[in-house]
Amino acid sequence: MTRRTGLLLLAAAALILPAPAPRADGARPAGDPSYSGQPLADFAARRAALRKAAGDGMVLLIGSPAGEEGKYRPDSNLYYLTGVSAPSAALVIVPPDDPLNANAALYLPQTGGSATRFGEAYLSPGPDAVAATGIDPVHRLWDMWDEIEPSIRKAPRIYIQGPVGEAARYTASARTIDRIRAINPGAEVLDVGRLVNAMRLKKSPAELDALRAAGAATIEGMEGAARSIRPDAVELAVEGEILAGFRRKGAAREGFPCIVGSGPNATILHHTSSDRTMAAGELVVVDIGAEVRCFSGDVTRTFPVNGKFTPRQRQVYDLVLAVQKAVSEAVVPGKTTLGDLNTLARRLFRESPLRAKGDDGTVRTMDAFFAHSISHWLGMEVHDVGSMGATLEPGMVLTIEPGLYVPGEGIGIRIEDDYVVTERGAEKLTPGLPSDAASIEKLMRSKRTR
Ligand code: GLY
Ligand code: MN
Repeated sequence: MTRRTGLLLLAAAALILPAPAPRADGARPAGDPSYSGQPLADFAARRAALRKAAGDGMVLLIGSPAGEEGKYRPDSNLYYLTGVSAPSAALVIVPPDDPLNANAALYLPQTGGSATRFGEAYLSPGPDAVAATGIDPVHRLWDMWDEIEPSIRKAPRIYIQGPVGEAARYTASARTIDRIRAINPGAEVLDVGRLVNAMRLKKSPAELDALRAAGAATIEGMEGAARSIRPDAVELAVEGEILAGFRRKGAAREGFPCIVGSGPNATILHHTSSDRTMAAGELVVVDIGAEVRCFSGDVTRTFPVNGKFTPRQRQVYDLVLAVQKAVSEAVVPGKTTLGDLNTLARRLFRESPLRAKGDDGTVRTMDAFFAHSISHWLGMEVHDVGSMGATLEPGMVLTIEPGLYVPGEGIGIRIEDDYVVTERGAEKLTPGLPSDAASIEKLMRSKRTR
């Protein structure tokens, strides 16, 4: 390669590479899109695609304000379209020939620019925010309604963050709908999810990086769980070890409340970790997901409290694991649906020679004890948006999570990993965590080395 073409390639790469990682000294204001790890060009392409899909309609997304408690989590759709994680940001996208005289505008509260005494100094309106977001203009939130009134007056359709209609009552979107109606009573107000949900199904390389990081943090938490589960351990104390693992790997939040379910709690699918003390002979289902850069992991492992599965627990465990493997190998891009994966899992459980007794004492095939779906989409939401009927395509991310629940035997076993669909099939996003029974027992005996 000549020096000249090399430089050209470098210049081209600079256009498509992600923004540099934020400086640890906090030189960039909180809420800046560079914290997302995603290139500005990705956000711009999404806004352009949404603008096209909206036709002569306009988009108005108003982000939630910072609450009194908890860490601020930006609204997923707003983040997907801007990468901005500042509270109370608002995005407006307008059709061609709109009075706004721009394709899109961002509105931000004026936060003062420099560090404040009580909290973060967030990205603020002005030229710095234009450079940081690639959106022009970035104006004060205070001025938004006056500025966009002519656009609203003209728009036949306005897409907002749902819910809309009857379901909007008592929600933040009700206030947005009221203000729109006061300006343009004839405008049709629709949920932006109609256009964005399908776009969010396929993840970009940078989104997959965030999902891998979330998976790695989730694994760190799971290893903490494995090492702290023992007779007399308390579910909530195990949760504490999980959260320590998440935080070590940079996860500020969880994608959903940790599930540490021991004994009878292992058969409650969405049990919330409690003050229950676990006992030898029981199983513990640990279903957890660290959130990194707004993307969630979702991984489940099942542990024997005393570090060794009984022969019966092992039998059921091995069946669940075999079903996970078979289902993951059945993914064919461009062909398979989540429905197909469900049908396959049910068939495999039904065809297994194993049997168990149902609540009424009847002996049943194992499909009777598979109490939920095999998969869901994964992304910024743990149960991510997008049609459940969609055909699997490269870039889509799903969980595969077979489980069997036999309350009469105190057995609850679930194994769950996260997968991205590739050109060839399904690739595990969480490959660093073993799942076979012997490795689970070994992990429980291991010591933390880092
Ligand atoms: N990990 C919780 C769920 O998938 O429902
Ligand atoms: Mn799940």
